[in-house]
Amino acid sequence: MNTLTRRGFLSASAAVAVSSALPVSAQGPSQRQRPKPDAKQSRNVPIVISSGNGLRSTTKAIGMIRTGADPLDAIVEGVRIVEDDPNDMTVGLGGLPNEEGVVELDSSVMHGPTHRAGAVAALRNIKNPAAVARDVARRTDHVLLVGDGALKFARRIGYTEENLLTEEARLAWLRWRARLNRDDDWLQEDEFDLPARSNTGRQSRADQKPIPFTYGTIHCSAVTPAGDLAGVTTTSGLSWKLPGRVGDSPIIGAGLYTDNEVGSAGATGRGEAVIQVCGARTAVMRMEMGDTPTEACLYVLKLIASKTKLKRLLNAAGEPNFNVVMYAVRKDGVYGSACMRGERQFAVSDERGDRLEECAFLFPER
Ligand code: GLY
Repeated sequence: MNTLTRRGFLSASAAVAVSSALPVSAQGPSQRQRPKPDAKQSRNVPIVISSGNGLRSTTKAIGMIRTGADPLDAIVEGVRIVEDDPNDMTVGLGGLPNEEGVVELDSSVMHGPTHRAGAVAALRNIKNPAAVARDVARRTDHVLLVGDGALKFARRIGYTEENLLTEEARLAWLRWRARLNRDDDWLQEDEFDLPARSNTGRQSRADQKPIPFTYGTIHCSAVTPAGDLAGVTTTSGLSWKLPGRVGDSPIIGAGLYTDNEVGSAGATGRGEAVIQVCGARTAVMRMEMGDTPTEACLYVLKLIASKTKLKRLLNAAGEPNFNVVMYAVRKDGVYGSACMRGERQFAVSDERGDRLEECAFLFPER
């Protein structure tokens, strides 16, 4: 089994010993104010939670955890299912590309027992950035590799390059590009001089489809029966982004944060907003201060709402006009999720089975 055992990784017991050797003042708020127990959900472990596109991932990961897998290995294998799925246009293979038609992927992982993190950003040609992020943590003394450096690292350790731009994503990019500007030399469908044809010579119905837009992303966090945690976030990021744009997903503390003494949290949605409030770290800190996971998620969303000042990002009511979804699970297995707006679901696998649940929300759908 592929476990996090390389030199330099602390064992869980060693990590606990280091933590308890610290003076109380250095141990953080968790030593002074333990999270409130939730009578309904206490000791709900093992558990895996995920964004709504991750039910296959939580199901896979909890199965691996039940047979003794490391929680990080379990969730990286879980999200691999979505990264490998060409029909999910938000993650890995088939993800929507940047403005130049190139797929660039971001991911980060955190391993609770060792407090080790790894991440890659703007990674091209490798469909499983979460596994590469885990290898950054396992095989290097660094946390984040980007762009060409991340690709070179992945190649050197044996990852195979492939074209991540599926035909559907390529056609969506062409539609987006052609509709950008009436005055440039890319004609839109209604301006074609000849009938639109696909590469196979048949009439392309795809040319009539609307243009998809996404902030992408799958987040997944897990707790083992022993109370060890891990988290992963992986994404193709904002569609049609500037080349080199990095969202919150590979930023430790923004799109992901895991503290083995407290809990794990992650984000999907508009990454720029999450980065600017250190979203996942803030959620874990709020759980450490006594918030339930749902309260912690809502706290982050309120913070984002209060810090969103630019008119172009606000609706007529002065609320953010974009969505962010936060996910959080506590060490004892209490979990929650909340979105900025409307009706969203998140995935849960625990002793009650594999299911989608409704997220709490800050603002109702308008
Ligand atoms: N949350 C994913 C992104 O903004 O890239």
